[in-house]
Amino acid sequence: MTAVNVKLRLRGYDLASVQVDLHESWRIGPVEIPTRLVLAPMAGVSVQAFRRQGRRFGAGLVCSEMVSCAGLSHGNERTLGYLRIAADEHPLAVQIFGSEPGVMAEAARMVEEAGADLVDVNFGCPVRKVTKTGAGATLLEEPDRACAIVEAVADAVSVPVSVKMRRGLDNGSRTCLEIGPKLVEAGAASLTLHPRSARQMYTGEADHRLTAELVELVEVPVVASGDIVSQAKAQTVLATTGAEAVMVGRAAQGNPWALSEIMGDEDEPSREEVAAELILFIRETVRELGEHRATGFLKKFYGWYLGRGRFPRPFKQELVQLETPEQVEQRLFAAAPGARFVLERLEDELPQGDEVLLDLPISAARAAEETAPARRCIDKGTVHLLPASIISAKFIRVCDASAPEVEQA
Ligand SMILES: Cc1cc2nc3c(=O)[nH]c(=O)nc-3n(C[C@H](O)[C@H](O)[C@H](O)COP(=O)(O)O)c2cc1C
Repeated sequence: MTAVNVKLRLRGYDLASVQVDLHESWRIGPVEIPTRLVLAPMAGVSVQAFRRQGRRFGAGLVCSEMVSCAGLSHGNERTLGYLRIAADEHPLAVQIFGSEPGVMAEAARMVEEAGADLVDVNFGCPVRKVTKTGAGATLLEEPDRACAIVEAVADAVSVPVSVKMRRGLDNGSRTCLEIGPKLVEAGAASLTLHPRSARQMYTGEADHRLTAELVELVEVPVVASGDIVSQAKAQTVLATTGAEAVMVGRAAQGNPWALSEIMGDEDEPSREEVAAELILFIRETVRELGEHRATGFLKKFYGWYLGRGRFPRPFKQELVQLETPEQVEQRLFAAAPGARFVLERLEDELPQGDEVLLDLPISAARAAEETAPARRCIDKGTVHLLPASIISAKFIRVCDASAPEVEQA
């Protein structure tokens, strides 16, 4: 069902009877997205493990967290790490933020080169560290610059460009409705609206009446973001706005089952399933970030996974105090021994080719190598962009064994 069909149905039918099938595919330009559920970009959350898990639980599109275009252009090691894309993540959007059209265009080229299916531009971040540089939500008040950014990015890449924005800077703002159509004219192939003001941060409610107005104003797909926490809410927002898809953020933190519930697919997980998913998440995150970074990063996830009455509260406190992810894993197995069998099944189902990438933590790279030319290594459909000198002899050997393509970017 296209947005136009939804609009027509809204005019002719009782809203209560409109059921949008979330399993239907839709498109952003040439990119086919298999379901109407999108996993939100979330800084400090949207690691590869989160995105791959999101895909397994029903998200048709997953997004990287926002990536600094300045960081990419300086070859910052940690920023480059955000461009790691696994074979089972597609379709995937990589989101970039910045304020200079030329630098954003260059970053977009790197994102495309890394294998992203979409480049998403952030005009929504309300955090001062970002807005004070003229990026994120502040660009909503600078429509000429915002359009220049979208135009430069769209000209630089052949993949579609999408924009994610808030309603405006101040409470009650309707800026998104003025700037939305201009961004489409500048080249945006899709708009995602989180209809809170930047000032609101995450307080109050997302006002999806604005999403409905935006849908009426533009011909490109609109994605509704904000407070989608259940199947009922997703259905209401889709039916009352005519948005093409819903985006889920906080509800999916440590709770991929929220995604399957929204899709109408599954029931509450058992303790064993929760423990197995968390252990898999821990293992993948340690491989992606390296043990040192992962240890602190993962702590917030323990509470998210184990809450909702799934495990007693003191158990969560105990996990947070353990020193290594390995210890957390052992403690989880002790609390839910059946998790071993669930985990074995989960790991068997994961594509094998990704192991090559995941075995190379970002921390293996050295900052001194930032200026070295980037190389692109494709292994079994997985694209990896890193400064040439980070790609160790071992890594190249592994790639060679499976007939890779290693080329200068
Ligand atoms: C911890 C956190 C980090 C976020 N980081 C980003 C980000 O990097 N880029 C972005 O466009 N939105 C970001 N957002 C906003 C979400 O993508 C989403 O629009 C917002 O949380 C509303 O959706 P929800 O109610 O489903 O959480 C972030 C939100 C949270 C809670």
